[in-house]
Amino acid sequence: MLSYRHAFHAGNHADVLKHIVQTFLIEQLKQKDKPFCYLDTHSGSGCYDLTGEWANKKSEYLDGIARLWEEKDAWPELQSYFNCLEQVNAPDAPLNFYPGSPEIARQLLRDQDRLILMELHNNEIEILRQHIGKDPRTALHHRDGFEGLVGLTPPTPRRGFALIDPSYELKEDYQRVIKTITKTMKRWPVGIIALWYPLLGKEADRSHYMKKELEKLGIPMLTTELAVQAQSMTWGMHGSGMIIFNPPWLLKDKLEAILPRLCERLALSPQANWSINLQNSEG
Ligand SMILES: C[S@@+](CC[C@H](N)C(=O)[O-])C[C@H]1O[C@@H](n2cnc3c(N)ncnc32)[C@H](O)[C@@H]1O
Repeated sequence: MLSYRHAFHAGNHADVLKHIVQTFLIEQLKQKDKPFCYLDTHSGSGCYDLTGEWANKKSEYLDGIARLWEEKDAWPELQSYFNCLEQVNAPDAPLNFYPGSPEIARQLLRDQDRLILMELHNNEIEILRQHIGKDPRTALHHRDGFEGLVGLTPPTPRRGFALIDPSYELKEDYQRVIKTITKTMKRWPVGIIALWYPLLGKEADRSHYMKKELEKLGIPMLTTELAVQAQSMTWGMHGSGMIIFNPPWLLKDKLEAILPRLCERLALSPQANWSINLQNSEG
């Protein structure tokens, strides 16, 4: 039984990092006219009402996207990401809606590109289906995203990227991430995979173990982390990370150029910090 609902966390610091990486990757793939495929293993419902009861429970977006939105002219590098937010909000209105990863992809992809969206939760897939409507570029799958990614790769067209964004509700999710990426990379060695993971308190954190195992695959991987406060001794999430397998050229430079300022802007305490690290690459 899945209980995680992304509406509680929409637009928080972790979404900001994830969706900036997502938009950078899509924009880089669009540099060529050749079509590409976007796969989303854990899609969520597609768009979130920031005025709704769930988002307002902790109003996490106030320390996330809201901090950037109020000074969006100061972030020309994030124009593409902000355009997606503008599309789901009325002009000159406050930020009432936040687009999820499928909506961001739907907006940025071109007619020749394809979207493959997976979601397991019965209600979330229904909301997603209504939100996406009849988009001829999109295939929606009500299924397990880990199995789905292996089953649906290599996609047609072969060029493209997959976002793996589990809720890590189940401890096994870490093991499943490792197995899924191992199998997918064998079937789709040219694919780009972007994996999101939480940075948790000392008792709960499994990110070190997961990163070590993934590094053993020997695939070029770019790891970036953004912590908005110090790690606690127990459970809470103090930041998040993204690992990009087969990262496109220049992605590291583009992220490196914004991370110091992003970290400063999203910091909740002086211990906030960021990192970026390229492994298994000769470049
Ligand atoms: C972190 S949320 C996704 C957020 C979304 N990617 C975004 O950025 O807007 C994780 C989603 O995965 C779904 N989920 C959990 N386990 C799953 C599985 N095994 N396969 C597919 N979806 C799953 C949850 O219902 C939830 O909607």
